[in-house]
Amino acid sequence: MDVLEAEVRGTRPGPVSHRIDAGRRWCVEIWARAGRSEARSRTVFEITQSGRRVYAIAQLPPYFEHFAFTHFGDGPLEVVWHPSEIEVSFAYCYAREDVAAQGVTFLDFSDAGITEWPMARWPERYAEEVRPALRYSPFRGWMNDPNGLCRVGDTYHLFYQFNPNGTDWGPMHWSHASSCDLFHWTHHPVFLEPQQNLAALGATGGAFSGSALVEDNGEVSFYYTERLPAYDLFKGYKEVQRRVVPSNDLIEPIANRLVLSDGGPGSGDDVRDPKVWFDADAQVYRMVLGASVDGDPAILLYSSSDRESWSFTSVLYRAPKRFREGGARCAECPDFFELDGHWVLVAGFVGYTEAETQRHNLIYAVTGSFADGAFVPYCDALQELDFGTDFYAMQSFRDGSRRLALAWLFNWEFRKPSGSTYSGEMSLPRVLGLNAERQLTMVPEPGYRRLRAGEIAFEHGEAGLEGATGPIELELTGSLAGLSIVATGSTGAQIVVAESDGRLHMRVPEDDGNIVYRSAALELSDLRVFLDAGVIELFANGGAVCGTRRSYAATDFMRLAISATGPFHARAWRLRSAWAGSDAA
Ligand code: FRU
Repeated sequence: MDVLEAEVRGTRPGPVSHRIDAGRRWCVEIWARAGRSEARSRTVFEITQSGRRVYAIAQLPPYFEHFAFTHFGDGPLEVVWHPSEIEVSFAYCYAREDVAAQGVTFLDFSDAGITEWPMARWPERYAEEVRPALRYSPFRGWMNDPNGLCRVGDTYHLFYQFNPNGTDWGPMHWSHASSCDLFHWTHHPVFLEPQQNLAALGATGGAFSGSALVEDNGEVSFYYTERLPAYDLFKGYKEVQRRVVPSNDLIEPIANRLVLSDGGPGSGDDVRDPKVWFDADAQVYRMVLGASVDGDPAILLYSSSDRESWSFTSVLYRAPKRFREGGARCAECPDFFELDGHWVLVAGFVGYTEAETQRHNLIYAVTGSFADGAFVPYCDALQELDFGTDFYAMQSFRDGSRRLALAWLFNWEFRKPSGSTYSGEMSLPRVLGLNAERQLTMVPEPGYRRLRAGEIAFEHGEAGLEGATGPIELELTGSLAGLSIVATGSTGAQIVVAESDGRLHMRVPEDDGNIVYRSAALELSDLRVFLDAGVIELFANGGAVCGTRRSYAATDFMRLAISATGPFHARAWRLRSAWAGSDAA
C-alpha cells in the first residue's frame, strides 16, 4: 500500500499545514527526527510559498538533526508536515533583521498543527506554577551553565548551555537571551551547536561552557570548550578551546576557530570553560581553564598576544588534597577577576562530596593578589559561596563599575518532575563586592525592587499568603539568633530556614536528612530571602553568606511564620512576575 492509498483509506493521517506570516529574511529552524509511523512520504516536512516548494526534508534519521531555512523572498510561507512521520523537539522562526529586538516565535508542533509563541504570548508559558517568575528559564529543553555573559551597549546578554532535544543534559549547544535589566528577557536563536551530530555518533560532548571577552573598543569575542565526540562521561575524551567572533547584534557566529588544543602539563582529560580577559598591566590576553593537575582540581593560566595563539603560563591554583580525596575530578567554570584592587578566583570542584555534610559540587572563592601571571591567595581557607549548593557554574561580568554574576540554579540532587517542558533556571543576578574581611559578598541586583507589588502584613511574626504563587521577598533585621522561618505551601509542604548553633540551615520538603545544608559559622546580622515557585535564595550578613535551594514539592505558599529569641524586625513584599506581559521592558 503506498502512502497516498493509505491516506485515502484513512489508515494514515494526511499532512497538516500551518501558515506563517513571514517577511523578508525570515528563518525557520527545527530540530527533528523520524516519527512513530513506518510509512514514509516523499517529503515528511516542507515549506512552500504560493504553492511552490522552497524547502523540503526528504528523509529523517532516527536521531535529532537541526534543519534551518532562510527565506530570501517575501510573503507568507506554508509549513506542511506529516505528524506521524516527524518528531519535532524544538522549533522557532524569526525575522533575521529584528530578532535582536523581537526575539524568536517558538513553534510547538502537535498532530493538529503548530502553536505559535511570539514574545507577546511568552507570559502564558511563564505563568506555569513551577516556573520561577524572577529568573530566567528556557522556553523549552534543558539548560545548564550561564555562558558568554556580557553587557554590550544597554543590553545584557546571557548565553547558556542548552540541549534542544529534551529536558535532560545532552549534546551541548549555546542558546541565547538578552535583557535590558537582567529580569525581563528576550529569547534568541540558538547560537552554537556541536561541531558534529553527536547523536549520529552515539556520543556526547559539544559546545561546552565559556565566556565573553569585551574589549575597550567594544569588540566582542566568545571563548568556549568543544568536547569532541565522547564515549564516556567521565574520562577518555578530548576538550579543545575555540574562539567565536559574533555578528554585531551577537545573534550569529561569523567566525569560529580552534585556538588551543593543549591539555596543559600534568593535566588529565578535563581542560575546559575558558574565561578570558585583557591583562592591562602585562599587556597580554589571559585565559583561565578548569582542569586537574596530577589528580588535584586545578586552574590553568594561558596567555596570548593576539587572542588566538595561546601558550601555557602557570598553574594558577591547585586545590587542597581534601578535594581530590573527597572525589573531585577537576575544577569547572573558573572565574578570575579584579574587585576593588584584589583578585578573586571562583571555581566549582565537580564530583566532590564534603564528608561532614554530604553536600556535593560546591563552589568556592579565594581572594588574593595577581601579578606577572602568579596568583597569591591571602589565606589557605576557601570561602564557600552558597551553602544551599543549588548555585553552580557562577560566571561574573563587568557592568560599568559593577561586577555582576549569574549561576545555574541546580546541583543534580533533585530533578524537575517529568512532564515539564523545560529543565534549568538561573539564579537572581547578583552584585559582587568584598567586605572588610576580603570575603566575596553577593547581593541581589536591585532591579527586582521595581517588581515590588505591595507589602505583606505580619501579626506576631505570622503572615497569611492565601496561596500566593508569585514571588515573595522577606527582609529581616535586628536580633536574629534562634531565627526560624517556615513557609508552608498549599499541600502542607514546608521550606524552613533556621539559625541554630551559630549557623544558618535550610530545608526543603524533598530532604531526607542525609545531606545537611548549613552555612559556615556566622553571627547573623541581616537576612534577605526570596521565595519564587519553589526556589529559595537567601543573602545574609551583607551577602557574605548566601544559600540557594530548589524544591519542586513546595511551589506556592499559604503562610509565613517567623520567630527568633530576641526582638527582630520583618518586612515582606509580594513581587510581580518579571515575565508578566504588561511589565515587559
Ligand atoms: C558545569 C559543566 C562545565 C561544562 C558544561 C557542560 O556544569 O560541566 O564544566 O563545560 O557543564 O554542559
